[in-house]
Amino acid sequence: MTGLRDKGTTQMRQDPAMASAGTGRKTVFVKTYGCQMNVYDSERMTDILAREGYDGAEGPEEADFVLLNTCHIREKAAEKIYSEIGRLRRLKAERRSKGQDMIIGVAGCVAQAEGLEIIRRAPDVDLVIGPQTYHRLPDTIRRVKRGEKVVETEFAIDEKFDTMPAARPDAIRQRGFSAFLTVQEGCDKFCSFCVVPYTRGAEVSRTVSQIVAEARRLTQAGVREITLLGQNVNAWRSQGPDGHSWVLGTLLRHLAAEVEGLARLRYTTSHPRDMDDDLIAAHRDLEMLMPYLHLPVQSGSDRILKAMNRRHSREDYLRLIERIRAANPDIALSGDFIVGFPGETEEDFRDTMRLVEAVGYAQAFSFKYSPRPGTPAAELTKQVDEDVKSDRLTRLQALLRAQQNAFSKACVGRHIDLLLEKRGRKAGQIVGRSPWLQPVVIDAEPSQIGDIVPVRIMGAGSNSLFGRLEP
Ligand code: 5AD
Ligand code: SF4
Repeated sequence: MTGLRDKGTTQMRQDPAMASAGTGRKTVFVKTYGCQMNVYDSERMTDILAREGYDGAEGPEEADFVLLNTCHIREKAAEKIYSEIGRLRRLKAERRSKGQDMIIGVAGCVAQAEGLEIIRRAPDVDLVIGPQTYHRLPDTIRRVKRGEKVVETEFAIDEKFDTMPAARPDAIRQRGFSAFLTVQEGCDKFCSFCVVPYTRGAEVSRTVSQIVAEARRLTQAGVREITLLGQNVNAWRSQGPDGHSWVLGTLLRHLAAEVEGLARLRYTTSHPRDMDDDLIAAHRDLEMLMPYLHLPVQSGSDRILKAMNRRHSREDYLRLIERIRAANPDIALSGDFIVGFPGETEEDFRDTMRLVEAVGYAQAFSFKYSPRPGTPAAELTKQVDEDVKSDRLTRLQALLRAQQNAFSKACVGRHIDLLLEKRGRKAGQIVGRSPWLQPVVIDAEPSQIGDIVPVRIMGAGSNSLFGRLEP
């Protein structure tokens, strides 16, 4: 697979009750770019900072500390950070003119990839901290306050996993009933286009006891659904309490059996090569495991798959999908695609379109190839023209959108169990996620948020389904 699904930009939800005015505490504003792993990391950094006396700020204007948790997966993602730093620079100057200060920190994959270069290019940045060192935030902040510029980009994943503090129950409750839990970080696959193996490092799995302890903490605070996260989550491996070597399927079964209060499990993101029989069987046997699988293929052309170093063929992928569907015919498939990889011809692209037609996706993410410095594909000479990439992306996205609409329409009339997550846009509406991850809007009481309720799907819009509570 790859990196996790790209979710754009998110800002940490703030609890007004935690506002720090008049308490002598300080405030932090964390802005998150990119994938779910970054959302998880931002939550962890917020938890660490809460112990250091930082409460959530509503926006960067009033924050003592602004922390950008960045994404490096495509070029645009990194460029966005520098324009955001430009805006923060002005805010910092304004605050200084009022005798206040503002620490600007850059975390995440841009921090890891660019390190000191960020401070050279943007001298107002005080702190650059990588994804494997953010547990050292308390110490780095103290150094910044002494006037140092700090760059912490060591690969220190074991130290992080061993020392990362757990979230406080009030912070978990504030984040809702569906939570992320990182079980694995890093990637050893080295797809030729991808920066993840360089920014996130080698594959490292958290231990069963670390994962179970965190899952229990989440459910004790009310969480009903947990999504296990990893850049290559189905490569998770660890020794189980029985002394045997466990794989992701074993872990899912163990969590389903041992974590009281847990109702639903998901995992993302997976590489086709690591989709073993045991994990496929879990989709057949484990009711708690939701029937949704994000399984990126990137291209449908064998020639391009080879150049991408994906280490599987188009046929391998199609056969794998057959086995997964045989285990659970109800499963919704999602994927990632790259168009315009160097050397991609019209015929290669048509192979991708044909693969999409053969699979039938419920949802998918597609991108124009973006050369990433330091990756092998960036050195290839046959780069594809920008307008050809745009044309292919438009055609692919039209097909994927039609498949998504068809999948949503086919849900109309079905009965589902819906986990109610938050208020909808209109009064009286509550939104949850279907087992296949679509947002579902129903009329219900806010007091029902957190419940799993029987719902009949009555209609399908362009991005959500509409349902009715069943008696
Ligand atoms: N250019 C375009 N898309 C990329 N992705 C990863 N690297 C690149 C790149 N250099 C996409 C892949 C991956 C998703 C998270 O981002 O499709 O699965
Ligand atoms: Fe996914 Fe390949 Fe990147 Fe690893 S190298 S994160 S498998 S796209």
